[in-house]
Amino acid sequence: MIIGVPKEVKDHESRVGLVPSGVIALREAGHTVLVETNAGTGSSIPNEEYIGAGATILDKATDVWGRADLVIKVKEPQPSEYAYFRPGLILFTYLHLAPLPELTGRLLETKVTGVAYETIIEPDGSLPLLTPMSEVAGRLSVQIGAQYLEKPNGGRGILLGGVPGVAPANVVILGGGIVGTNAAKMALGLGAHVTMIDRSLKRLRDLDDIFNGQVVTLASNTWTIGETLRTADLAIGAVLIPGASAPKLVRREMVSAMKPGAVVVDVAIDQGGCFETAHATTHTEPIYFVDGVLHYCVSNMPAAVPHTSTFALTNATFPYLMELANNGLDVACRKHPSICAGVNTFNGYVTHNGVAESQGREYRAMTA
Ligand SMILES: NC(=O)c1ccc[n+]([C@@H]2O[C@H](COP(=O)([O-])OP(=O)(O)OC[C@H]3O[C@@H](n4cnc5c(N)ncnc54)[C@H](O)[C@@H]3O)[C@@H](O)[C@H]2O)c1
Repeated sequence: MIIGVPKEVKDHESRVGLVPSGVIALREAGHTVLVETNAGTGSSIPNEEYIGAGATILDKATDVWGRADLVIKVKEPQPSEYAYFRPGLILFTYLHLAPLPELTGRLLETKVTGVAYETIIEPDGSLPLLTPMSEVAGRLSVQIGAQYLEKPNGGRGILLGGVPGVAPANVVILGGGIVGTNAAKMALGLGAHVTMIDRSLKRLRDLDDIFNGQVVTLASNTWTIGETLRTADLAIGAVLIPGASAPKLVRREMVSAMKPGAVVVDVAIDQGGCFETAHATTHTEPIYFVDGVLHYCVSNMPAAVPHTSTFALTNATFPYLMELANNGLDVACRKHPSICAGVNTFNGYVTHNGVAESQGREYRAMTA
């Protein structure tokens, strides 16, 4: 198969869909890899590394898209890329089609097979191609929180770990899933005092075991959240109700009662945020204040660390890419229901129920 790797064109997107180790493995399996020039530059992977791995570098996106049987990307295609769509092309990337009827329409008209990272689901219910970005965002949330707690950056002027004789910072994490657990690891590593709040008692038991009692675990309710936030230096929003907007667990008055210069990092902002005071911000203007409390609510946090994010993402996507390349779509889908679940558009039809429902389009089950 010919695999194409275009350079991402979405604003501020510096990740890339395939790294040189993937090129080597694909080449060893008998495939050809075409990489658009400078596709990896934003992730600090120069053309030379792709060439060394056996890829062919092409100058123009149109040649990569035009010659490839399968295009691997990171973000959903942008309007400037729609012209490259054609029947038979397999597109493997984050698609998030539900709110994008125009893109969906173009994929259907041109009979592109759209395989979406975010709907690949394993039999245990896990979403393996969303997990790595939650890991990155969770770890990053503490690094960013620590920076903004510094006085020159607008915070209270607190060192997360304290020093001998001075108490460490209080870090409160709402939601103990993947983001929350990764945030807790970083905060503990820096010596902070960590409290985790989750609505699932089973999850709290697991967290107590994972952290060997080093974090305080609390059951989620309005009173507990309000009381805990009152003494928090850094509060991290990491809750998720799958398929729904984030619940607004923190009301404005709870934020007003926080310490001046405390920092809120609402990672769940991509689902609307779990702080009533949160609104989405960008890497260009990441913060704002509400009642003296600093808010960081960037909805694509992993873009701040594209090198790490690219490798984390491609570690997870590559095994699925290899199955698609080695077997072709039909056999890959027959062998792996997880891949079949990733197919959102096929032969001019929507093959994902959620996307069809949200856009009022006809749904046809994917039959491999
Ligand atoms: N901003 C970004 O760049 C970025 C990057 C990655 C992920 N995210 C987002 O971070 C959020 C968390 O993702 P995740 O992968 O950790 O999800 P997850 O499903 O692993 O964890 C969510 C946790 O929230 C808990 N929860 C749900 N309702 C709750 C409530 N009322 N009170 C307390 N806890 C509650 C759940 O029990 C679960 O443990 C999601 O919205 C995700 O989209 C954002």
